[in-house]
Amino acid sequence: MTRTILITGSSSGIGRATAKLFHEQGWNVIATMRSPEKETELTALENVLVTRLDVQDSASITSAVGAGLERFGRIDVLLNNAGYGAFGPLEAVPMEKARRQFDVNVMGLLETTKAVLPHLRVSGGGTVINISSIGGKVTFPLGTLYHGTKFAVEGLSEALHYELATIGVNVKLVEPGIVDTDFAGRSFDFTNDDSLTEYQEFVNTFLTAQAQLAVGGDKPEVVAETVYRAATDETDRLRYPAGPYATELLAQRAATDDATFIGGIKAQFGL
Ligand SMILES: NC(=O)c1ccc[n+]([C@@H]2O[C@H](COP(=O)([O-])OP(=O)(O)OC[C@H]3O[C@@H](n4cnc5c(N)ncnc54)[C@H](OP(=O)(O)O)[C@@H]3O)[C@@H](O)[C@H]2O)c1
Repeated sequence: MTRTILITGSSSGIGRATAKLFHEQGWNVIATMRSPEKETELTALENVLVTRLDVQDSASITSAVGAGLERFGRIDVLLNNAGYGAFGPLEAVPMEKARRQFDVNVMGLLETTKAVLPHLRVSGGGTVINISSIGGKVTFPLGTLYHGTKFAVEGLSEALHYELATIGVNVKLVEPGIVDTDFAGRSFDFTNDDSLTEYQEFVNTFLTAQAQLAVGGDKPEVVAETVYRAATDETDRLRYPAGPYATELLAQRAATDDATFIGGIKAQFGL
């Protein structure tokens, strides 16, 4: 039986690489995105349904899940991948932006999961894979909002895995490191306010260090392969760091006390 995956945020980066990999591996793919009319490559692939899903739009979630079920008859794996990073000094960020960050990265993930769960429950099981981040376990400066959302994804996924085990559904967390996608470009929503002079030296130091950190990240295919492993290893393992950098950093974090680890982050950012 051909298995089916539904992916959010398939227009670029990790979501797109994952859609292609699962397609190559013979899966049916429900490649969802906010603007499917712009897509040409995935649309041309057999057994790939490109359909609209904006995680902030409830009706689009319901209709994308419905369209996927109508086309392929089942969903075996949900990949909650859609997300972006809101950064900047909290004082400078309008609450509307803060709410949007949690709405997309957390509430959208919950709502999409809720829309797929009735099907997984009735069909006897499946897997929900949530794209977290090293940023769900460690923090970088000026990432109050982004890390808030990814720490939430870590916690909610761990808590959810208990109850979903009772209906045969595994919950898994894939934790990428630094990945060469649009994340550092159009998905990096940085807010600053020059009039808050006390923060500006800190902001400049962060931006210089952050630009260097973004160079030479993993290819999104590395994360796609980790998602594939999580979807197919038939274990109830919860966490999958993606790539050598994430694996090493998260192992270091687990082995190090707060003061020492955070001291290392400060040194890395020249703080
Ligand atoms: N790149 C990294 O270094 C890194 C590291 C750790 C974790 N991650 C996580 O990986 C995930 C994917 O990011 P990426 O690196 O692949 O960046 P990306 O190429 O910028 O992809 C982000 C995706 O999220 C989609 N998206 C944003 N808001 C959405 C919404 N309201 N509804 C549906 N889709 C929405 C974007 O769609 P549009 O095309 O419509 O904007 C795009 O497809 C994110 O959850 C991110 O936090 C990335």
